[in-house]
Amino acid sequence: MRVAAIIPAAGIGRRMQKNLPKQYLTLGDRPILAVTLAVFEQMPEITEITVVAQPAALDFCQKQVITPYGFKKVWRLVPGGKERQDSVYNALKVLQRQNDWDLFLVHDGVRPFITPQEVRRVLRAATKHGAAILACPVQDTVKQVNREKQIQKTLNRQDIWLAQTPQAFQAAILWRAFVEAYGREFYGTDEASLVEALGLPVVVEPGSPFNIKVTTPEDLLLAAAIYRERERIRSCQPPSA
Ligand code: C5P
Repeated sequence: MRVAAIIPAAGIGRRMQKNLPKQYLTLGDRPILAVTLAVFEQMPEITEITVVAQPAALDFCQKQVITPYGFKKVWRLVPGGKERQDSVYNALKVLQRQNDWDLFLVHDGVRPFITPQEVRRVLRAATKHGAAILACPVQDTVKQVNREKQIQKTLNRQDIWLAQTPQAFQAAILWRAFVEAYGREFYGTDEASLVEALGLPVVVEPGSPFNIKVTTPEDLLLAAAIYRERERIRSCQPPSA
């Protein structure tokens, strides 16, 4: 089974209000992107990794993240585009030249707390159903609100899930979804929405609320706390034989 992981990390991080894009901010002393990549690097199920970085930051990404942390599976570093979808498409166009992939798996570079077990569950579901994503059922009551901030509707929260990444797809399905989306000038905020537009089923695998996307300064505080706790737990465990 040949699985190509695509890690979009070409955002400029406007909502973080920092000079450095969020994927290069650190947890402990590691760039967030390095924490994320380490999960996929250690998984035998992942054949290779393509990182997408801002065109002006390709060298920075190589020198600050990929080389110093010794990622051997990162075989390709591809320039990103204007929207996240453009960034993922740039990676797919390069990967598609090889055309022998079974699955494509896309995971945000700024979701560092993904676990190998969760990745495996999504890969298994995508192998079985063609397309699968990690998602969390909402806990709060969800309101649909208009521009005047008036509630229009209370949605049935049992039916609402928050999409996360990874999102994994049989390679031919994702490629077709992207080609058709660009044909119709359709832009989605995740890959699943492009596959949904084809009318194909996408299944959700229950994810974890720890799999946060580090987007705002508040997320960074939370991420630092989760990272510290994980490191503490890791350091308490007896060394494996
Ligand atoms: O913008 P959003 O928060 O959805 O970004 C999710 C991931 O997509 C981040 O890792 C970000 O760096 C990446 N991204 C990208 N290219 C863009 C915009 C976002 O690779 N043009």
